Amino acid sequence: MSTRVDLWNSRYVDAECGAAAWVLHEHAHLLPAKGDALDLACGLGANALRLAKHGLRVWAWDFSSVAIERLGAEAGRRGLAVHGEVRDVVAAPPAPASFDVIVVSHFLERGLFPQLIDALRPGGLLFYQTFTTERPEGSSTPSNPAFLLKPGELLELCRPLRLLVYREDSLFGDLRQGLRAVAALVGAKA
Ligand SMILES: C[S@@+](CC[C@H](N)C(=O)[O-])C[C@H]1O[C@@H](n2cnc3c(N)ncnc32)[C@H](O)[C@@H]1O
Repeated sequence: MSTRVDLWNSRYVDAECGAAAWVLHEHAHLLPAKGDALDLACGLGANALRLAKHGLRVWAWDFSSVAIERLGAEAGRRGLAVHGEVRDVVAAPPAPASFDVIVVSHFLERGLFPQLIDALRPGGLLFYQTFTTERPEGSSTPSNPAFLLKPGELLELCRPLRLLVYREDSLFGDLRQGLRAVAALVGAKA
């Protein structure tokens, strides 16, 4: 029987890396000039590559060995340093006060939020973006509610942080425009 890890490994054999998440791309000006950053559940690591390009020391964790191997090769090709690690982030979350920046995109494990917030150093930033239950019809985002944020839920999960950015377009207005089917947040640790 295939495990979840096998499933992700087979997806990553020929998947494309893509671009960094909107929340990071659009708010990269909030990043510190130096420090330690983590791309958690990184997949092929587009966020990690963006953080490394910015000049941060970057760690990238995912339980898919295929993804971590491909990220290492891509970082090498680009002349960037990324410390990739095959790691189950639920079983082994980041240690308290270990990062200045944590980026999570398109991954939701609700029980992990207290540890993510704890893992930030004072002044550290959490960039989070993932899928929501309010999806325009025909949307290709995941449909399993276990992996989807309810309206306003990301705000609640990150309540201990100082809010710098929040975006959730929901289903208002012209659904052909805007940032649909996701919520995005940047929060700072006091
Ligand atoms: C939808 S992908 C998102 C990847 C990347 N963050 C992005 O935005 O493209 C979800 C990722 O979570 C990883 N993942 C799921 N559960 C995990 C766990 N318990 N520990 C580590 N990685 C996990 C999968 O291997 C996959 O790479």
